[in-house]
Amino acid sequence: MAIIYHEKSQTFHLFNAEISYVFTILQNHQLGQLYFGKRIHDREDFAYLLELKARPMSACAFEGDRNFSLEHIKQEYPSYGTGDMRYPAFTILQENGSRISDFVYSGHTIKNGKPALDWLPATYVEQENEAETLEVYLQDSVSGTKLILRYTIFKDFPVITRNVRFEQNVDTKVCLERAMSLSLDLPDMNYEMIELTGAWSRERYVETRKLAHGIQAVYSMRGCSSANYNPFIALKRPETTENSGEVIGFSLIYSGNFLAQAEVDTYNITRVTIGIHPENFSWQLEKGDSFETPEAVMVYSKDGLNGMSHIFHRLYQSRLARGKWRDLERPILINNWEATYFDFNESKILEIAECAKQLGIELFVLDDGWFGKRNDDTSSLGDWYVNLEKLPNGVSGLAKQIEKLGMKFGLWIEPEMINKESKLYKEHADWVLNTPNRNMSHGRNQFVLDFSREDVVDGIYDQLENVFQDAPISYVKWDMNRSMTEVYSQAASPEEQGTIMHKYILGVYRLYEKLIARFPDILFESCASGGSRFDPGMLYYAPQCWTSDDTDAVERLKIQYGTSMVYPLSSMGAHVSAVPNHQLLRNTSLAMRGNVACFGAFGYELDITKLKEEEKEVIKEQVAFMKQYRKLLQYGTFYRLSSPFDGNVTAWMVVDKEQKTALVGYYRILQRVNDAYHRIKLQGLNKDYCYYVTVLEEDIYGDELMNIGLVVSDASSGENHEKYDGTNGDFQSRIYKLTAVCDE
Ligand code: DGJ
Repeated sequence: MAIIYHEKSQTFHLFNAEISYVFTILQNHQLGQLYFGKRIHDREDFAYLLELKARPMSACAFEGDRNFSLEHIKQEYPSYGTGDMRYPAFTILQENGSRISDFVYSGHTIKNGKPALDWLPATYVEQENEAETLEVYLQDSVSGTKLILRYTIFKDFPVITRNVRFEQNVDTKVCLERAMSLSLDLPDMNYEMIELTGAWSRERYVETRKLAHGIQAVYSMRGCSSANYNPFIALKRPETTENSGEVIGFSLIYSGNFLAQAEVDTYNITRVTIGIHPENFSWQLEKGDSFETPEAVMVYSKDGLNGMSHIFHRLYQSRLARGKWRDLERPILINNWEATYFDFNESKILEIAECAKQLGIELFVLDDGWFGKRNDDTSSLGDWYVNLEKLPNGVSGLAKQIEKLGMKFGLWIEPEMINKESKLYKEHADWVLNTPNRNMSHGRNQFVLDFSREDVVDGIYDQLENVFQDAPISYVKWDMNRSMTEVYSQAASPEEQGTIMHKYILGVYRLYEKLIARFPDILFESCASGGSRFDPGMLYYAPQCWTSDDTDAVERLKIQYGTSMVYPLSSMGAHVSAVPNHQLLRNTSLAMRGNVACFGAFGYELDITKLKEEEKEVIKEQVAFMKQYRKLLQYGTFYRLSSPFDGNVTAWMVVDKEQKTALVGYYRILQRVNDAYHRIKLQGLNKDYCYYVTVLEEDIYGDELMNIGLVVSDASSGENHEKYDGTNGDFQSRIYKLTAVCDE
């Protein structure tokens, strides 16, 4: 790994064993992008890649020179209005009303390691020699604004992270109206864009579209990263598959409004930008002020989409997630939400916990409804003290009894929200975000606290600290159940209103940081109506996230499959719930539900006291299986094999580092009559190892399993009618265990 600056050609080359990133200082002293992709040789000059050639009807920077036009030059962090007609990376409004700027190179530094960002989540290193960081300084002499473009290249990941800092060092005022974290110009448009899109209960479906001229974008303007689009896009070559070919993944470490877009101009140049959404964003900078953008991550894979996901998984698991729980197997939990909803008392909770303990479950999570006067969703958010009618011994009394059973105890909170029907609202109506003289929209009967304010965050912190220090709490599920509307802070000036949505997210991060510092042993799980805030920003604080409110096993195949594009299995909360399923009314077997949920941070979410004895026996076996294999399931290398978006069969697998053990999950949605024969090619095995394969009960070499495939054909349903053995019919699944029995 190295970052080299070639003085003569004024060219920067960042490279490690797998990737190269090259850019240069242009004739006008701005920055031009030259290359991002597979590692190439280092040499002095790559300027030929600028392709400076005169083109008709273009705006040119230098009189007498028709070759140098910003309209055609691939740039590093472009501005609008001086020749480049595409969307810019930033816009700065100046005191005279102008948005024209000219940021020219004024110096750079190259350092070992990677600096942390103030109050923003970011990837990190543990040793200085894991990465190198380049800071390039650019100065606009008219506005007096300084730009710092920061690039980090890691030794062991084909990854470049980027962020930008704006500093105002002179007396004039400027207003940032757009400040993207990254801009990357690619020299052609021969790509397909992958995005993760959906809505509540169908989060992160994989969608692919061919790039076309113009803009293609995903975004959120809801105040959270959202279920609708994830802060991620990937550009893959049309021939790229799950296992081969080129793909670049772009991911934003941020939990609020974002924009990720690919613009293709009419010369087929593709410009990718990702960062905070410019809508309702403006940030004044006066002398001494600065603004730091969130971090963006660019992953290059030559090994297809699985290759890209492996890089994201490893990076986010080991160098974004932090704390005690980062590398630990996750406790098997039971959550009472779908078991009781708001209708519970201490004895009901203990009854579930006792039963769960007998089945081997390790953690009981008390969900919504334990505080204030909360018996439905109309009241009490903001009042973080126990409801003694439901829990006469308090949270601490209940938690202690659960600990006595030999289980850990976890608690649900929704700290960013308030109901009008609450003590907090009576005392602090001004703590709510709402625009003066305008309607105040509710979502699920609740309103949003103004987390852009330190006093509001501190007020909520004090309440939560009381609860957490009073009881043995090992786990916290932090929920957030609505999109933000009529955003306006009572405490901010008119000029500051454009900062509020970003400051809100900074407030969320600050509360997380304070709670983590005070309670470092707690395992946090983030949640937002299921998976509406499943993003890298959250993973920095909460190493796992409730993937979706949709707990139906068949639907979960799509949700978990899509989520795995970027996020590791250790981060995906996945529970077995009751049938008929509460979201879809679909019936699936307990085996199918377990076989899907075990590829994640596993748990249960149903009233297990109501189950038949034989069902409890199945759960006991599932829990034992999970305890035996969770390290592999949560931290092994995960491969997508067959997509639920493409057909009737979903398959995926995990392999351990040594390639000695693997688990293959195979799921067939509908039973086909008189069906054909099926095989699935496996991945990631050692070709020379021979594996004992359960279900088939046969020793098979890795090369056979990867090149010929795992035989997954079922008996024909018509023929099998008489001796139906539970393996035919709709919604079937199997887990194949592969164990290396010899290594030659
Ligand atoms: C939404 C979450 O996604 C659910 O799991 C549950 O915690 C409810 N909120 C509680 O209100």
